[in-house]
Amino acid sequence: MQTDWDLRYQQADTPWDNGNPSVHLKSFLSEGKVKPCRALELGCGTGTNAIFLAQLGYEVTAVDLSPTALERAREKARQAKVKVNFLEADVTALPDLGGPFPFVFDRGTYHVVRKINLAGFQKMLTEMVAPSGFYLVLAGNANTDAPPDKGPPTVRAGDLSFELESDCFDLLELKQSVFDGVKIDGIDFAPLSWTAVLQRREHNR
Ligand SMILES: C[S@@+](CC[C@H](N)C(=O)[O-])C[C@H]1O[C@@H](n2cnc3c(N)ncnc32)[C@H](O)[C@@H]1O
Repeated sequence: MQTDWDLRYQQADTPWDNGNPSVHLKSFLSEGKVKPCRALELGCGTGTNAIFLAQLGYEVTAVDLSPTALERAREKARQAKVKVNFLEADVTALPDLGGPFPFVFDRGTYHVVRKINLAGFQKMLTEMVAPSGFYLVLAGNANTDAPPDKGPPTVRAGDLSFELESDCFDLLELKQSVFDGVKIDGIDFAPLSWTAVLQRREHNR
């Protein structure tokens, strides 16, 4: 059964939504591979990471399915006095966003959408990540020993690289990590994750 994301936001059933920018995003940015540029966030939720990027000078478009999450995101951006182009859309059916992006960020959306429309997700990535641009993705890790009903959807390393590299990307880095700041029933949970950095090839293989 597909998740009703808006209902989860309405019911505050959102253990991933910790209000702090991702440590993995911060760490990637600190390497200096991408300087402030046009950036796209896939499945931005309540906008914490999109707002963080905008505060650093990125020109951010951030997409989510959930109107409730986006309403909160817009309010947070207003309070932070930053401009983010928040957009209600399915990542597999995006409107014209004005061309591809040198940086695309995703915390917890690929691992959901791959089970619903992997081909649509792959096509979107090839269109949205600019040649030589980067896609930083954080996804649930199938090496976890958490019960399947607890924590995020998971993916195996081999499946992640097979599904995301395709003919168009090089997988530069795949690190075992944890989703920081996740609590379930008020208790720190820290689900095992993958942090993957992909770079769009100049030319397809
Ligand atoms: C696990 S949450 C992560 C949210 C946010 N990235 C964060 O770290 O707080 C997954 C998000 O993806 C959104 N989502 C799921 N499927 C989507 C789709 N097909 N298109 C756009 N957003 C989607 C959900 O509404 C939800 O906000």
